[in-house]
Amino acid sequence: MKTSPKHLLSIEQLTAAEVENIFHRATALKRSRGEAQTHLTGQTWALIFSKSSTRTRVSFEVGIREMGGESLFLNANDIQLGRGEPIKDTARVLGRMIHGAVIRTYSQQDVVDFAQYSSIPTINALTDDEHPCQILTDIFTYEEKRGPIKGKVVTYVGDAACNVPVSWIFAAARLGFQLRLAAPKAYQPSAEILRRAGGHVICTENLREAARGADLLYTDVWVSMGKEAETAQRIKDLSDYQINDDLVALANPDALVMHCLPAYRGKEITDATFEAHAKTIFDQAENRLHVQKGILSWLLA
Ligand code: CP
Ligand code: NVA
Repeated sequence: MKTSPKHLLSIEQLTAAEVENIFHRATALKRSRGEAQTHLTGQTWALIFSKSSTRTRVSFEVGIREMGGESLFLNANDIQLGRGEPIKDTARVLGRMIHGAVIRTYSQQDVVDFAQYSSIPTINALTDDEHPCQILTDIFTYEEKRGPIKGKVVTYVGDAACNVPVSWIFAAARLGFQLRLAAPKAYQPSAEILRRAGGHVICTENLREAARGADLLYTDVWVSMGKEAETAQRIKDLSDYQINDDLVALANPDALVMHCLPAYRGKEITDATFEAHAKTIFDQAENRLHVQKGILSWLLA
């Protein structure tokens, strides 16, 4: 009998032990890069993207190839999905032809439906609600440089209601670090998300208090994909919520500064602060490759 496949749709569904398992695999795959990795031999994975991507697309395409598989990049506008074919029909067709799917889209429900109807391993490569591959990578990168994140203070600055901070919220609940979200009221996460996540999360408009004693300062764009019509309003509303040298001075002396990228200098982070922490930020970007290979290996185990 065919068993149901594993998926990575949301950090909310992962246990701390599963995160540990993914990181363990990622570490081994990072160390053995260049040696034969055969987890995906004979497999074809589809990347179905409705939004732009540099890091996620390239890291998955390279990672799948390095693990012995083939990838098929499908811009959602080039397939019938873009002309209105339902996701559940697309999923049932692809599920009979390919071995796994990596999906970047708007609605979280579309990723959930794809996983259900395709019956193949499905990875959320960013939706409006979550970006699990990114936050797993961020935590892996933190731990590589500073040891366990448990008990540490992570301060997120900017639009605290978008996909990236929401994945951080679920990670805080699972992994036992304190998450402080510094954002104007209108850009703080919903009470429903905070309730689902449980403890460890503080929402505040007081940016300086949030940064004081932090072990990691983190930011993301003020204008997420799909929110372009709100650009002027967002720049106005979020203009104080920037990572700069003054803010970094309030954090712990060995605090890391991270950015999921792409970065908009002079908006969510200054050029000087970005460049001072570029080594961390680009190590973080490279780790997308290794952690996603860990995710692929875990999904197939
Ligand atoms: N951080 C991230 O997901 O980057 P891309 O949008 O370039 O994939
Ligand atoms: N919040 C951003 C993340 C980009 C990687 C967006 O959704 O555009």
